[in-house]
Amino acid sequence: MIIGMLNQKGGVGKTTLSVSIAHELARRGGQEDVLLVDADPQQSALSWSEVRESKLPFAVIGMAKKSLHRDLPAIGKNYKHIIIDGPPRVTELARSCIMAADMVVIPCTPSPYDIWASEETVQLVKEASVYKENLKYCFVINRKIANTAIGRDVVDVLNNMDMKMLDSHICQRVIFAEAAASGNTVFDLEPESKASEEIEKLVNELLEFGSLKNGQKNCHQKSEVEA
Ligand SMILES: Nc1ncnc2c1ncn2[C@@H]1O[C@H](COP(=O)(O)OP(=O)(O)OP(=O)(O)O)[C@@H](O)[C@H]1O
Ligand SMILES: [Mg+2]
Repeated sequence: MIIGMLNQKGGVGKTTLSVSIAHELARRGGQEDVLLVDADPQQSALSWSEVRESKLPFAVIGMAKKSLHRDLPAIGKNYKHIIIDGPPRVTELARSCIMAADMVVIPCTPSPYDIWASEETVQLVKEASVYKENLKYCFVINRKIANTAIGRDVVDVLNNMDMKMLDSHICQRVIFAEAAASGNTVFDLEPESKASEEIEKLVNELLEFGSLKNGQKNCHQKSEVEA
């Protein structure tokens, strides 16, 4: 499966979640199964891999070009899972990431303002889905404050956009930033932590969503406020 982590809004957690998801998939399937594609001209994922001291748990390549969707099938053919860390802003690159992906995951903080700021990405994804009937897409909430519920305002905005929100949420946790600074992931630093557990649940849900048949795919179920 090719998962594109995309949001033209900057700093929402595309790179953080990309490396974490890639690491968890590699923990499950093996290092040679997973490729992380850095499609951001800022090269954050590549920089992450360069500061890492121990062996990389998965392959990482830079591919911030608008021919990505044409080049990736040949380059990625031996991998079971490919995660694309998308760029902020650049529309043409984002479009190419969407064209390359089987599933687009839009990370976003649990704030209506941030979700509104993601609208351009939602539009791009919906446009592409007209031509790419099998494209799956969803929001994932990142940087939720632990022990708080997702607000009704957030749920309403997503419902109005007719967008699916994954049940798994990632909380605001300092370990994500600490791991990034040393070229690690939460699984290197604390594999038994709450952060690791959240990523594991997220990966379970992504794999499950990815395996759904077409008719069930983006069917938007009205999200409910967390209990
Ligand atoms: N769940 C989290 N808890 C704590 N810090 C986080 C979390 N997610 C992301 N961060 C921090 O927020 C900052 C932005 O995250 P990140 O670089 O992953 O976002 P991005 O969407 O890839 O940004 P850009 O648009 O610039 O590529 C980083 O400093 C990262 O460590
Ligand atoms: Mg990034």
